[in-house]
Amino acid sequence: MKILVTGGAGFIGSHTLVELSAAGHETVVIDNLSNSNPKSLERVAELTGKQIPFYQVDIRDREGLNRVLGEHHFDACIHFAGLKAVGESVEKPWEYYENNIGGTLTLLDAMRQHGCKNIIFSSSATVYGDPAIIPITEECPKGHCTNPYGQTKSMLEEIMMDIQKADKEWNIVLLRYFNPIGAHPSGRIGENPNGIPNNLMPYITQVAVGKRPELGVFGNDYPTPDGTGVRDYIHVVDLARGHVAALQAIERKCGIAIYNLGTGQGYSVLQLVQAFEKVNHIKIPYSIKPRRAGDIATCYSNPAKAERELGWKAQYGIEEMCRDSWNWQRNNPEGF
Ligand code: NAD
Ligand code: UD1
Repeated sequence: MKILVTGGAGFIGSHTLVELSAAGHETVVIDNLSNSNPKSLERVAELTGKQIPFYQVDIRDREGLNRVLGEHHFDACIHFAGLKAVGESVEKPWEYYENNIGGTLTLLDAMRQHGCKNIIFSSSATVYGDPAIIPITEECPKGHCTNPYGQTKSMLEEIMMDIQKADKEWNIVLLRYFNPIGAHPSGRIGENPNGIPNNLMPYITQVAVGKRPELGVFGNDYPTPDGTGVRDYIHVVDLARGHVAALQAIERKCGIAIYNLGTGQGYSVLQLVQAFEKVNHIKIPYSIKPRRAGDIATCYSNPAKAERELGWKAQYGIEEMCRDSWNWQRNNPEGF
């Protein structure tokens, strides 16, 4: 298939380009580079042996979108573009709603005007809020999102479902990611956070590389086996392959389809730290800090639906995630 990849220069987008190429798909990238470096696309070209057409276009820019959609005929769009920092979204709610929701509305409108009504959307397990069922199935009711970032994901899911209800030509796959970590095993592409990382794994790798003195563990009094938060970490290459698998849903004209992309395994903060130390032979100093506002105790998926319907299942375990996160950071201490 020929696929428009928005946000393709970013962390998950760049890994997905590699897997799409391996599966024989053709891609075109648009990205405004607000949170990425075009070098990621050079690295993707190096890994795949193919140059991917790239347009520095913002998804809020209707003219820019019209140009790209006019020059190419796409079978589907994989839509990663968006702002994703939870804390920043609390400080700048307008910017988050305008970029993520405004941008997606403009993209959807441009797509339908050019006759492309197939989209795979990056949603998040955050839409479950404090989940009513563990492990979380897709039937678990959506919960209260404590921040504007999470709200944009939840609202966009609703918006897309309404659009599909009104126009059955749309096929929309909502992928709810759990916690993507790791990097391409080559160490050539990976996560490149700006400033102080918010998420656990990039913080650990920055401690490992000597950029930060120690990790703060946010709370050890949760109702979990060791008191620290439990999450479903998933290797970004597995996540990327989940997008390739999701194209099958588009091909069989799914209407609306929702899938969790996780491993189904929960690991606590301290278990992840221990796994990282063991695999990479590096000590990660840490101290216990107060709980982080908005955090929940436990969140992990039941990924059976994606396996049943798409034949997709995560292949990598926590060791590979720790190995590849470190391999990326060690080889690229300053990012790209
Ligand atoms: P990322 O920031 O690395 O990638 C997003 C890309 O979108 C960046 O390259 C950025 O420059 C681009 N972008 C942002 N706004 C844009 C706009 N208006 N027009 C064009 N490009 C724009 O983030 P990621 O981790 O690769 O996440 C990809 C998607 O997955 C995001 O929608 C994110 O919310 C979602 N998601 C990520 C996680 C995670 O833990 N990384 C978890 C759940 C969902
Ligand atoms: C966070 C976001 C979520 C987003 C996801 C992926 C919040 C409340 N949620 O999820 O919306 O979809 O990232 O981008 O921010 N931790 C520490 N020390 C740290 C960092 C994290 O102890 O320095 C702990 C957290 O308390 C949590 C676990 O590590 O228990 C994972 O945290 P993180 O990587 O930020 O992911 P989530 O909180 O699950």
